[in-house]
Amino acid sequence: MSAKLIKGPEVAAAIREQIAEELVTLKEKTGKVPGLAVILVGEDPASKAYVGNKEKTSKALGFNSVVQRVPVETTQEELLKMIDAYNNDDDIQGILVQLPLPDHIEEKAVIDAISVEKDVDGFHPINVGNLMIGDDCYIPCTPHGCMKMLEYIGFDLKGKNAVVVGRSNIVGKPVALLLLQQHASVTICHSRTADLGAVCREADVLVVAVGRPEMITGDMIKPGAVVIDVGINRVNDKLVGDVHFESAAQKASYITPVPGGVGPMTITMLMLNTMEAFKRKHNIK
Ligand code: GUN
Repeated sequence: MSAKLIKGPEVAAAIREQIAEELVTLKEKTGKVPGLAVILVGEDPASKAYVGNKEKTSKALGFNSVVQRVPVETTQEELLKMIDAYNNDDDIQGILVQLPLPDHIEEKAVIDAISVEKDVDGFHPINVGNLMIGDDCYIPCTPHGCMKMLEYIGFDLKGKNAVVVGRSNIVGKPVALLLLQQHASVTICHSRTADLGAVCREADVLVVAVGRPEMITGDMIKPGAVVIDVGINRVNDKLVGDVHFESAAQKASYITPVPGGVGPMTITMLMLNTMEAFKRKHNIK
């Protein structure tokens, strides 16, 4: 392997340290701490694990952490009522409803119901629109984490070719906008792009969030490229990314491993967004 690793736990720890420091000042100024409410509907094992980690991190940082675990039979109306209660709760600045939701609940109705000011996931259409036009918004956590990793290695995106593989609302589209904001020339492609390898080989930065295990192989990577692998796939009881790590690491200058790459960044960015929501509420810059 020639590529250097961008280690998620290391980058995340550095940001958490900054959050913890700032929290001391915020507590002194306001006498309060940021509050994050997480709602989990049902028993999906991956979602349970993600929510458990969010609760642990939130508590460890000294946030007011509220986690509401409700049964899979919970109706949409009941869920909307819970959201409304948190929208009106002065001790809560961030609300997150863990996705995916059971089939009988309409995801869009739930996202739309979260107050824009408390939408720390950055999924509400108003936050998405503000991201698009470069206005104040909550940046979705995983794309934000990818950008922080590039910042951590001191990578200047200006004038570089960035290729994003994947076009989801949660990762692909927002990360493309963030790369564009940093003056990269951005191409978004996906599983149906013709000659994906040829497009990827143009990339100085390759962000992969396509949800297909080890789809991107070393022959698709430009020598010296920076590779950010957002994928987490379980294959034969092993976690692998959307990038074939061994072959890609032969070509890249930097690469994020799976596990231990982007994953730990997402929760940290959620904490950062919740702290930002708290600062906005208290008019603190
Ligand atoms: N499920 C998987 N990732 C996420 C995320 O970032 N936010 C929410 N709300 N649900 C998720």
